[in-house]
Amino acid sequence: MNQAATLKKWKENIMAEDEMFTSARTAPKPAVNPRVMCFSSGKGGVGKTSMVTNIALAMAKLGNRVLILDADLGLANVDVILGLSPRYSIKHLFSGEKTLEEILVQGPGGIQILPSGSGVPELVNLSEGEKLMLLSEMERLESPPEIMLIDTAAGIADNVLYFNIAARQRVVVVTPEPTSITDAYALIKVLSGRHQIRDFMILVNWVRNEQEARKVFKQLSAVADRFLGMLRLLYIGYIPRDTAISRAVRQQKPALELYPDSKACKQFINVAENILNTENQCRDDGNIKFFWKQLLGI
Ligand SMILES: Nc1ncnc2c1ncn2[C@@H]1O[C@H](COP(=O)(O)OP(=O)(O)OP(=O)(O)O)[C@@H](O)[C@H]1O
Ligand SMILES: [Mg+2]
Repeated sequence: MNQAATLKKWKENIMAEDEMFTSARTAPKPAVNPRVMCFSSGKGGVGKTSMVTNIALAMAKLGNRVLILDADLGLANVDVILGLSPRYSIKHLFSGEKTLEEILVQGPGGIQILPSGSGVPELVNLSEGEKLMLLSEMERLESPPEIMLIDTAAGIADNVLYFNIAARQRVVVVTPEPTSITDAYALIKVLSGRHQIRDFMILVNWVRNEQEARKVFKQLSAVADRFLGMLRLLYIGYIPRDTAISRAVRQQKPALELYPDSKACKQFINVAENILNTENQCRDDGNIKFFWKQLLGI
């Protein structure tokens, strides 16, 4: 199936799901309301994976069960940054060789990682049977995650859009570099223009201080306001430029574990709290099951 056809298929699935879930929304709320958040950036190398891993750990420290879906096929992905070597990926689930429980990798601080390996393209084009299998495996997990963070690849490739559409909340990582701001804008433009997504959380990385971060946020929201109309861009904080992050990457451990007192790590906790505090803005359908149904189009 070519790219245009794939996108069309997702769109149709997602529209059908939306209708289905409009009626489902009136059903009683589940006891827990797990949340799915997709991190992306437009431009590569701006710190997505470092943000996702440390924010995941911060959320775990704040008492949440967190799962990272590594949806990036790039080299410096989550398992590399965390020094893990997953033996299996989601592919082994579909081939029937492993259960989801067996594929999940235990990371630091109790976080779990679901490695997609080279399975991201397959995730986009699963057969009906595979979709049902993944969904039922998700439901069978002994301790299902309360929060799921998705680390995506750079750019606005199909699968990046796909995860953004399926997730309930989106974090756009941006740095003061002009190309990062224009690429973040391009991502927001595609998601709002083609997919009617209106809410974005903005995380500013690699700044000297909060003042610089606020300036970057203002620049991005000014241009979004001017050209894209009614969007809700929410500033959720900043991470300073800090060698604790690059040193930790080299040591293949999360900065929050190695350098908890660093400037960056204090902000990771702040940002995690800020994101968790947006909970009330989250719709009832922002749960894991909804995500998978949305993602899988069933
Ligand atoms: N605030 C920061 N201060 C210092 N170094 C940083 C900061 N944020 C990220 N880095 C460094 O930048 C590099 C790229 O970060 P990372 O791999 O997290 O980016 P990415 O957006 O996931 O990249 P890709 O688009 O390739 O997936 C890493 O070596 C990391 O150490
Ligand atoms: Mg990355």
